[in-house]
Amino acid sequence: MPLLERLLPGISNAPNLHPMLVHFPIVLLPAALVLAVLAWWSRPNWWSAARAVFLIGVVFLVIAGVSGLVAQARIAHGPHSAVSVHRQFMLAAGCLALLLVWPILAIRSPADRRRAVWFPASLVVLNAVLVLGADRGAMVSLQFRGGPIPTGAVPERDWSAARSPAVRPGDPEAGARLYARLACDSCHGPDRREEAPGIPPGLETVGSRLRAEWMHDYLMNPHPIRWADQDRRPEVRMPDFRFTNDEADDLVAFLSQQRDSTLYDIHGPDAPPYTEQEIERGRLLIGEYNCRGCHVLGGIGAHLGPDLDSVGERLNPEYIARLLRAPQRVVPGTSMRDFGLWDDEIRCLTAYVAALRSPSVSQ
Ligand code: HEC
Ligand code: HEC
Repeated sequence: MPLLERLLPGISNAPNLHPMLVHFPIVLLPAALVLAVLAWWSRPNWWSAARAVFLIGVVFLVIAGVSGLVAQARIAHGPHSAVSVHRQFMLAAGCLALLLVWPILAIRSPADRRRAVWFPASLVVLNAVLVLGADRGAMVSLQFRGGPIPTGAVPERDWSAARSPAVRPGDPEAGARLYARLACDSCHGPDRREEAPGIPPGLETVGSRLRAEWMHDYLMNPHPIRWADQDRRPEVRMPDFRFTNDEADDLVAFLSQQRDSTLYDIHGPDAPPYTEQEIERGRLLIGEYNCRGCHVLGGIGAHLGPDLDSVGERLNPEYIARLLRAPQRVVPGTSMRDFGLWDDEIRCLTAYVAALRSPSVSQ
């Protein structure tokens, strides 16, 4: 409607009307509380105004709830993200409000003060649930904010197979023997990935995926990365084999050879170097596509995919690009979906994600 668009350009183009329907009308419920307290305390003739404001507030709470359920369907989010917690609180507030309508209407005046106190008292509880729910609702908008400013620079040829020259180069053959002797494939082999998609991850192309330096630290000090679902870590864990430095070097040399340069093309259009503008655009795209619906970034987000805060130390840019291009092809069965990104969006997101490093590494 062109007239509507000219009059109300914001509302008619907004992707999600829910926040606008909520902010103003919900104020009626705290207002009803104030009126009810005053009516109970000293102004009995405000009682019916308090009840009327409460009723109108409940009507808008129901409208806000319906618009929220519609909006939710359009937001990428994990089951434990702020969206879901917000919904649970608001559904609780809505049910409570509806349950209160009849008992509150039944108290016609504050004359019987002991009975009448239920009106303001129940509004205190209702408003407390609303405030908690609104707080989680505000978290949703935080999730849509661009990512944190990256602290690390992206080295130009970051996909290097070998660790830095100062480190003893590992012996890939010794690594292969160690790999066989310790039966790494009993978990990482193709038949042992039953628990959840990607867990334990296949190592067939691990050299194209993971940075050598990171692999070395990880083998020396394994820690959980993925989530099985929601907030649950997988049952199968990477064991700590208490490797010596040299053993870890050998394994890394072997693992680094497990590459697939046709799948992860180190000279392809997604390869570094990246410009500052690309990194900044990627930062904003993180908010646009709500990657925090599943990943923690800058401390905000849900646990469905790995924490991305220093993931640039872990992953080669080519892997990041490939995953963004076709998540299901790279990790079959993963909950990360194909966002249908444009090529330049993939490049910018890759530039940004690859720049996410812990502050100590950037120096
Ligand atoms: C008991 C099963 C088990 C065994 C045995 C095992 N791993 Fe793992 N490994 C895992 C799991 C599970 C993960 C994923 C952890 C996560 O994502 O939180 C993992 C992760 C890894 C990773 C990181 C891969 C990635 O994409 O995150 C590397 C590298 C690795 N293992 C190497 C090895 C090597 C080398 C051996 C043999 C010395 C080995 N693993 C033996 C279970 C195992
Ligand atoms: C519906 C949930 C979901 C959404 C939304 C999502 N991801 Fe993921 N993502 C995952 C899961 C699950 C994995 C783990 C795949 C695996 O097992 O290796 C993952 C893995 C990743 C990885 C590799 C991390 C690592 O340490 O191996 C990157 C990088 C990534 N996602 C970036 C993004 C970006 C950028 C966006 C937004 C455009 C995004 N994701 C949106 C679920 C999601």
